Amino acid sequence: MSTPTSTESPFLAACRRRPTGRRPVWFMRQAGRSLPEYRALREGVPMLTACRTPELITEITLQPVRRLGVDAAVLFSDIVVPLAAAGIDVDIQPGVGPVVAEPVRDAAAVAAIRPLAPDDVGYVRTAVRALVAELGDTPLIGFAGAPFTLASYLIEGGPSRSHARTKALMHGQPEVWHELCSRLAGIAGEFLKVQVAAGASAVQLFDSWAGALSAADYATFVAPHSAAVLRTVAQAAPQVPRIHFGVGTGHLLPAMAAAGANVVGVDWRTPLSAAAEAVGPERAVQGNLDPALLLAPWPVVADEVRRICAEGDQAAGHVFNLGHGVLPETDPDMLARVVDLVHQLPPA
Ligand code: CP3
Repeated sequence: MSTPTSTESPFLAACRRRPTGRRPVWFMRQAGRSLPEYRALREGVPMLTACRTPELITEITLQPVRRLGVDAAVLFSDIVVPLAAAGIDVDIQPGVGPVVAEPVRDAAAVAAIRPLAPDDVGYVRTAVRALVAELGDTPLIGFAGAPFTLASYLIEGGPSRSHARTKALMHGQPEVWHELCSRLAGIAGEFLKVQVAAGASAVQLFDSWAGALSAADYATFVAPHSAAVLRTVAQAAPQVPRIHFGVGTGHLLPAMAAAGANVVGVDWRTPLSAAAEAVGPERAVQGNLDPALLLAPWPVVADEVRRICAEGDQAAGHVFNLGHGVLPETDPDMLARVVDLVHQLPPA
């Protein structure tokens, strides 16, 4: 371990497994429907329109930082933004999620997917630059969807519980699968490079649905493509920490670490002490309060926060977070109380 520099924030120090006086905390989906000021700004504005408007991106990203006192901002965008920017007909429907007009199910559809050019997402570059200036010492986390999770939306045409068509294509037409994922890895890598070049201090690769796969299928069909995305960031900006997250991935944590992550995100199913063992001493962990528990009374939440911090102390570094995104019905005051309590529990 090296000494923290005077300019290094608690969040970046924890990602780098350096000593930090304060345990950092942020929340996936901290910018969103749990905040009344978010709902007010989004009134009548479609999700993808908001994601293409620098002033809205900037303001929505800053809202939770002001209200909650979190240690990092996360860019307001969506995993399908770079897909839409590369010409794919995808929309985000309220209460549903991404919906793809023409699902991708054969070699011809894959061949029609073009690379992302940096100028396709100029609005993201503009917003990141403005945010970095506004945020001062608070780091900005950029993100992208990982190839498997993006591929699932493209193949299924929308959200899916079983990922049945995705798995059928993966096993039935493996060459089509790998070509699709290598194109998606290119798009995700380019999207992250734009954010990092504009000043994002860390990135998170969301492979939200990878937990649906066996460890063997993950290793064969997914890990090489996620590794390619993370390598793109590592080569462009080696100092920028790379967080790799999925839901229900207890059995995949070693592979997700090995794909090139500095920090592995963990959901509530796996104790952080077990996660720390799975990812080894070279990685920090992030997580892992069950977002549903934020609807329980405060003493219950407080006990959970204390347990998670004690388990996080078993890891080489701990960034407090939820095990998945903030639920829209969450009381923002509960989030603020969690932040305050985490800050009272410094790392061991
Ligand atoms: O974390 C943040 O605060 C940053 C913003 C962010 C959004 N989407 C904004 C959003 C991030 C990091 C994402 C990533 C994302 N998008 C993921 C990976 C993270 C995860 O939750 O697993 C996935 C799978 C998506 C796809 C997606 N987009 C879904 C499933 C939904 C929810 C649909 C719904 O209405 O319930 C979206 C829409 C979306 N993305 C919203 C927000 C704030 C809600 C849109 C709204 O306010 O109407």
